[in-house]
Amino acid sequence: MHTTLPSTLSAGPGATHLEIEPSILYFGTPVALLSTENQDGSFNLAPISSAWALGQTVVIGLGREGQTAYNLARRPELVISLPAPAQWPAVERLAPLTGRDPVPLAKAEGYRFEPDKFAAAGLTGAPSHLVRPPRVAECPIQLEARAQRVGPDVSGEFVIVEAAVCTVHADARIVVPGTDHIDPAAWSPLIYNFRHYFGLGPERGHSHRSQTPRACR
Ligand SMILES: Cc1cc2nc3c(=O)[nH]c(=O)nc-3n(C[C@H](O)[C@H](O)[C@H](O)COP(=O)(O)O)c2cc1C
Repeated sequence: MHTTLPSTLSAGPGATHLEIEPSILYFGTPVALLSTENQDGSFNLAPISSAWALGQTVVIGLGREGQTAYNLARRPELVISLPAPAQWPAVERLAPLTGRDPVPLAKAEGYRFEPDKFAAAGLTGAPSHLVRPPRVAECPIQLEARAQRVGPDVSGEFVIVEAAVCTVHADARIVVPGTDHIDPAAWSPLIYNFRHYFGLGPERGHSHRSQTPRACR
């Protein structure tokens, strides 16, 4: 089909974009560590990066065969702990582990069962206030939450979880003193960028809705 591009668009020789088929589309989202409760009352911990917040709801994408999806379909309480960039080695120690026993076929290559992922990662569980799974003590932000809806995605490979956050814990060093605001200059998420770990660079500006505006260069 022949289409005419609007005058503001261009194509052809000298075009700036290539049409490519990347194997993954992890375009840079924060890493989160999900604590959930296993059937025997012990706790699982898993790194994810498919998560985003809508008001007080966090929407999470999970592989259907993982222990985290299994747990949340049965026991809705969870903690979403957000590591800082320097904590990427602990995240990577969790990467080849699953709390699922036996290891599902889809994970047979490259994964092993680990019942104590906190110890395996060198991380510490801290008691939560309103939910049973523990927070990750080393993470600057920890969100206690309950899964309100757990269902399949359109491909059938994943599970989409909508979790309502009930308590927010923030390291005092990243909170604007005397307020409920996270200081965006003091906090950086750990970003998963096409399977590589990054922190944030310097601030470029702020939204017109920012409640913590600062002059920046
Ligand atoms: C940085 C990072 C991000 C990941 N993001 C996701 C994700 O968004 N969703 C997911 O299901 N798995 C994700 N994984 C893979 C899971 O951590 C992995 O499948 C793990 O075995 C799940 O543990 P579980 O079976 O105990 O739940 C990610 C792994 C890493 C290291």
